[in-house]
Amino acid sequence: MRRTIIAGNWKMNLNKAGVDTLVSGILNGLGALKSPPVIMVFPSTIHLSEVASAFKGKNVEVGCQNIYPSKLAAFTGETSIDQLKDLGIENVLLGHSERRQFLGETDEFLNQKVHHALSEKMKPMLCVGETLEEREANKTFDVVKRQVREGLKGVSKEDAKSITIAYEPVWAIGTGKVATPEQAEEVHAFIRKELAEVFSPELSEEISILYGGSVKPDNVKSLLEKPNIDGGLVGGASQKPDSFLGLLV
Ligand code: PGA
Repeated sequence: MRRTIIAGNWKMNLNKAGVDTLVSGILNGLGALKSPPVIMVFPSTIHLSEVASAFKGKNVEVGCQNIYPSKLAAFTGETSIDQLKDLGIENVLLGHSERRQFLGETDEFLNQKVHHALSEKMKPMLCVGETLEEREANKTFDVVKRQVREGLKGVSKEDAKSITIAYEPVWAIGTGKVATPEQAEEVHAFIRKELAEVFSPELSEEISILYGGSVKPDNVKSLLEKPNIDGGLVGGASQKPDSFLGLLV
């Protein structure tokens, strides 16, 4: 059964005071939710310890925004899964477009991270999505296909169930220009077809595919109504308690 997930990507946007306000606001609102989806948050690494202990036992999964694909070793400035395990963290975001664009992460490097995460029994959420230039050049499907196939290369059927995909068109991230439900659904259906070919049709039905890019409380419902959209990966609207709680419909 694929899960409906609303995940908050806090990026590098909050200091300690901001995190405290957000966490306590979410905790205060959780009790009133009738049948919430799976709730996940991805704070900055420096706040993981605090956030993981605040949400312990509260049905909010906590994940790291990135990992380095190695056991404990000499990699200055990086984070190992061995360190995340101390905090009980099982989710990791991989290949966000900001990391692909500004930090030069390639499909090949991301594939290493996916394999390392899976070998350590973590649950990777792999982000894919085209830029505006690529969309305008009719390359959306080529780009997404490459990112999915290269990112998941060599992943076993056994491990496929631990993966989540987030489709985030780069032109919709932080711009207020949300993809229409139809535009998003078209790409999500395409990704599911790719997953069916890479793994199997049955497994493709079990993998959640989230949409990300200017998701807000007032557009989340129409996106989630689409058959292949299984949730949202949300930046801006996940960073204020009221708007985040407004997404958990
Ligand atoms: P946004 O960001 O919701 O602010 O557009 C989404 C993301 O980058 O994950």
